[in-house]
Amino acid sequence: EEFHLIDQLEMDQFLSRDEWIFLIEHRSDALERYLFEKSEAVRIREYGHDIYIRGLIEFTNYCHNDCYYCGIRKSNPNILRYRLSPSEILSCCHIGYELGFRTFVLQGGEDNWFTTKRMAEIVAEIHSHFPDCAITLSIGERSRESYQALFDAGADRYLLRHETYDPVHYRRLHPDSLSAVHRRKCLWDLKEIGYHIGTGFMVGSPFQTAENLADDLLFLKELNPQMVGIGPFIPHHDTRFSHEPPGTLKLTLFLLGLIRLMIPKVLLPATTALGTISPQGRELGIRAGANVVMPNLSPTEVRKNYLLYDNKICTGEESAQCRDCLEQRMASIGYQVVVSRGDSRNRSI
Ligand code: 5AD
Ligand code: FES
Repeated sequence: EEFHLIDQLEMDQFLSRDEWIFLIEHRSDALERYLFEKSEAVRIREYGHDIYIRGLIEFTNYCHNDCYYCGIRKSNPNILRYRLSPSEILSCCHIGYELGFRTFVLQGGEDNWFTTKRMAEIVAEIHSHFPDCAITLSIGERSRESYQALFDAGADRYLLRHETYDPVHYRRLHPDSLSAVHRRKCLWDLKEIGYHIGTGFMVGSPFQTAENLADDLLFLKELNPQMVGIGPFIPHHDTRFSHEPPGTLKLTLFLLGLIRLMIPKVLLPATTALGTISPQGRELGIRAGANVVMPNLSPTEVRKNYLLYDNKICTGEESAQCRDCLEQRMASIGYQVVVSRGDSRNRSI
């Protein structure tokens, strides 16, 4: 029965909520092998053995939100807050360009210092210096007008994980000021404006059920984004979830495979969190169907202050070291890092 559901997915047939739940609850080693054989084949059909790289610039760890799972949430007094200046951001891009990056991801907490005007100036400057590069923003919930202004300034893509579809689960992970509905409204706005969008969720977050994951997968199918970022939840010692168990490697890989089959042309990163819970996590993610890696381009001095979770890898390395490390890791499993914008082949709207 569960094997048949994988076949159905492969034939682009819609799975119901109950079928997703059944599939998630009947995960076994045999089912995983069956899935990964198909998901790796689809990944190779769509993207060959190419791995797209994105240079991640963590430009501010100030955040006015208080998400219960996150190490840089507002009410954590035990971290050193920093902001990169526009010229520091630009110099990260220069270093990245030399290393072969053609996509820059500006990621940060929700920091009011970076008003729409300031952000738009930064985006426009990067756009004029690096016209052959894609600019991705990952700066949380903003007004539609702000999203539009940043798009007009030259931003191409936007990453905003929906985190969890279920409003009750959402409330257990976030303070009352945030809602699942508003988060999804942001995603639909971004899509309408014309951004290529990325969404996603944590695997194994506190209180998460198979029903929650089924809803997440149904939402992904409906939104049909260009990119889906999923990674294991990992506890941070200064949060209320410090003693919760982390998400598992196995469930994360299983979901990566399912998402690859469900949206064949999607961009799917093997995330830093996946590399953090297991030394071979990112390689295994690629084998399960992922095709993107997002090494850090932030200045090494600030990396240890951008810890959303404990034991994050790559906080002591230089940008060039991570770039080389990933190239070798990918080559070791028969894949090659390419110098390209790496646009999604998922163009349907
Ligand atoms: N473990 C794993 N992922 C986390 N994120 C935030 N905190 C954690 C954590 N403790 C993820 C969220 C957010 C993204 C930037 O990082 O899903 O959207
Ligand atoms: Fe950073 Fe391997 S990717 S050290």
